[in-house]
Amino acid sequence: MGIDAMTKKVLVIHGPNLNMLGKREPEQYGTSTLDEINMDLKNHGQEIGLEVDFFQSNHEGAIVEKIQESRDAYAGLIINPAGYSHSSVAIRDAILLLNVPVIEIHLSNIYKREAFRHHSLLSDVVFGQITGFGAQGYIMALDAIVGLINQ
Ligand code: DQA
Repeated sequence: MGIDAMTKKVLVIHGPNLNMLGKREPEQYGTSTLDEINMDLKNHGQEIGLEVDFFQSNHEGAIVEKIQESRDAYAGLIINPAGYSHSSVAIRDAILLLNVPVIEIHLSNIYKREAFRHHSLLSDVVFGQITGFGAQGYIMALDAIVGLINQ
């Protein structure tokens, strides 16, 4: 892929159980489904000149492989590692393979929740973290990443 095509593409990775959004603990994660979140991101991406692709998996290895594959194809990565945020050295190591901006996002504010959620193994290897803004946080992440890509 040529550099021009790559600079306009962003990958959004959703980790385990996020396929259940809408049904899953709505008081914590809101009522939007993953399809609704992705559609809003796609539309917002078009408005700000980004092509946005999506990947969701409940499997750590599949997420690691997707991050590896994204290496030369995307200008930025937005990732909600979900439960793996707090446990996955493998996802952290995969992020370290990338040379593009990475934003970690959580729907809920992980620092207001149980102590085991206060630590993310990714937080010191990503550009920054957005946590606690619900589905709006993904739009915020897209706005942030376009600025980083274009700078
Ligand atoms: C989450 C927070 C994680 O602690 C949790 O395991 C999730 C979702 C969030 O988006 O708020 O699955 O990443």
